[in-house]
Amino acid sequence: MEFNIKSLLRKNIANLVPYSSARDEFSGIAAIYLDANENSLGSPYTKWYNRYPDPSQKLLKEKVASIKGIPPSQIFLGNGSDEPIDILFRAFCEPGIDNVMILPPTYGMYEVSANINNVAITAIPLTENFQPDLDAIANGIDDHTKIIWICSPNNPTGNSIDIQAIEMILLNFNGIVVVDEAYINFSRHRSWIPELIDFPNLVVLQTLSKAWGLAGLRIGMAFGSEEIIHIMNTIKSPYNISQPAQDITFNALENLDQVNDMIKILVDERELLATALASMPIVEKIFPSDANFLLVRFYNAQLVYDDLASVGIIVRNRSKIEQTKNCLRITVGTPSENKQLIKRLQEIIIP
Ligand SMILES: Cc1ncc(COP(=O)(O)O)c(C=O)c1O
Repeated sequence: MEFNIKSLLRKNIANLVPYSSARDEFSGIAAIYLDANENSLGSPYTKWYNRYPDPSQKLLKEKVASIKGIPPSQIFLGNGSDEPIDILFRAFCEPGIDNVMILPPTYGMYEVSANINNVAITAIPLTENFQPDLDAIANGIDDHTKIIWICSPNNPTGNSIDIQAIEMILLNFNGIVVVDEAYINFSRHRSWIPELIDFPNLVVLQTLSKAWGLAGLRIGMAFGSEEIIHIMNTIKSPYNISQPAQDITFNALENLDQVNDMIKILVDERELLATALASMPIVEKIFPSDANFLLVRFYNAQLVYDDLASVGIIVRNRSKIEQTKNCLRITVGTPSENKQLIKRLQEIIIP
């Protein structure tokens, strides 16, 4: 069976007539705007915030398009990546009937979003090397499997997923394959965006919350075929990205050099941190990372977590999950923060 987007879509979405906002119906420049029931007198903060934002985020999308080398018609912008994740569920998964596949341990929102949307989950654990188990994936797919969620580099393990494995899944699955590249800028591997041309069932997610340092603005991005992006745009709420977020992001995207400098520092610091951890007797294993964090297995993760917390250093405790037993996920900090972390870890003595 060939990939066929029409047969994948939920019927209500295929038949959806999207909301047409005032700014959709008239998008030129006018002298007087009396079409959107805004406050014509102004706003108590900055004057122009009395106006609704551009629902199609035209300028910002053009900017993202020039950086990513893909047309605006293949870009969806959301309120963080969590919005496109939820929209993909709402577009393709019939509640109570369809299912999606996740490959744990992985980013938790795929499961939460599935639960919110009443969509069943087939969980196929990653192998010991944190790579997809292709046979188990093939056996786990049924007629109602609509989306396979792949996170690469993966959170919380930090490794990239093998290119050949992703390609096998894309070639053999007729539903949507999402590759979440939230951490791609810290990776040695290149993005899957150029492969969109060959795989109509591929959706790539990225975010400005990590390498770009703009988590507070909440800008997530989905890249896909024009058809898929068009569907996502019809589902989103009309004004999903505020005007200040659009404007500030537009300006921030000018500072590519600064972002590249930060990426280099964080990657260098990641390697320094890994080297320092490797020499500590409390550490059992450091997993290879293509992200801005390290997954570290300790002999007693809870003890380490509690000790760090007692001096105000907070890391993510993943030690209760079977595949990441005794593991802490440590975000790479500033050089000074990393020094303080290393110093404190060196002082811990296992009783
Ligand atoms: C793999 C992955 N995807 C997506 C996100 C969410 O990013 P955003 O801030 O864009 O919602 C995260 C956040 O931690 C993540 O780890």
